[in-house]
Amino acid sequence: MRLRALAVAAVSMVAVLAASSGAVAATHDGAKAAPTSLRGLAAEVGLRFGTAIIPFDLDHPDYAATAAAQFSTVTPGNEMKWQVVEPTQGVFDWSGGDRLVQFAGANGMLVRGHTLVWHNQLPNWLTQGVANGTISDDQLRDLLHQHITTEVTHFKGQIWQWDVANEFFANTFDSAPPLPDGVSSGDFWIRHLGEGVLADAFRWAHAADPHALLFYNDFNIAGEDGSNLKSDNVFAFVKQLLAEGVPIDGVGDQGHLDTQFGFPTKMQQDLQRFADLGLKVAVTEADVRTFVTDTATQKPTNSLAVFAHAHYYDQMLKACLGVRACISFTVWGFADADSWVPGFFKGEGFATIFDVNLQPKTAFTDLQQDLQLAGDGAPHRTGRGSDFDD
Ligand code: XIL
Repeated sequence: MRLRALAVAAVSMVAVLAASSGAVAATHDGAKAAPTSLRGLAAEVGLRFGTAIIPFDLDHPDYAATAAAQFSTVTPGNEMKWQVVEPTQGVFDWSGGDRLVQFAGANGMLVRGHTLVWHNQLPNWLTQGVANGTISDDQLRDLLHQHITTEVTHFKGQIWQWDVANEFFANTFDSAPPLPDGVSSGDFWIRHLGEGVLADAFRWAHAADPHALLFYNDFNIAGEDGSNLKSDNVFAFVKQLLAEGVPIDGVGDQGHLDTQFGFPTKMQQDLQRFADLGLKVAVTEADVRTFVTDTATQKPTNSLAVFAHAHYYDQMLKACLGVRACISFTVWGFADADSWVPGFFKGEGFATIFDVNLQPKTAFTDLQQDLQLAGDGAPHRTGRGSDFDD
């Protein structure tokens, strides 16, 4: 979080927090006023509303207060990835993850653990060891087993959902061809350990914490790439895992969208068919990027993009609300000053629901309204199973 942005934000934050407190206020006659925060409104329909957080940002009181007021789950942006938790072989750093777990506990939030097996953000000692032959494939398999066991055990009982495996399926833009079932042939883990490692990862995670919900997580699995092929492939794959009795509980659709592409209109339908397999579903990393004038203000170059931005958020949340098994909706950071987008997508930004001055955007109020409407039409709590003990 940039300090400059926060200094400007501090004054107006008081108003935002007052208007959107997570608590349900009691009126003078003892009746309860309806909640207005995202987490409060979402709770009315049995949904958890979450955000990714970089723990360092919690040093800023206004940021931390908004996080606690608006969100009921938290995902560490990076702090549970292998590169961060074991930077040197055998030397563990749980500080970032622990801090978030503590923050969550203090504020009635649940935690999405992210992520156990992924081709990105691996420690150098591991990738270099594999590249120079000092780590054989057999040893790599043991190291992965050990990594999953150690990490899941460390956080045992404190994680609601684990993203066990992340981004294994091929995309239309990949250079490596897909395997016949759509898994990426170029993936680090697939190249060294074969596809069977995916089922094993779920088994190992389940053995270490039998109560955590175990998710497969990916992007472009709701037709975002213009075809539904990747979604079809993931669907067939998880169906097979279930048939083999692999302990998988859910599928997460990341939901990284871009206003230059159309909205994935099959999203609800795609989430529903995973649900029809008996799985839970979640939107795990929602953000909506667009081209901006500069990275400091992140003002959209096209003023109409503001509406597209809000509309895409609105549609994503509606897709989740329309599927009873959708238990959480998580944004990938809630403030533009913290978003990963400007650093990863050249010329783009404006991706979150609060601007660089920590002011709520139209997208924020649209999400509030969607939840409000869903709550008005639904009986209290729809039994989505979004409680920790469910
Ligand atoms: C991103 C983080 O937000 C960045 O800070 C980091 O440098 C790279 O990873 N899909 C995922 C997330 O599953 O882990 C990624 O997070 C964004 C894309």
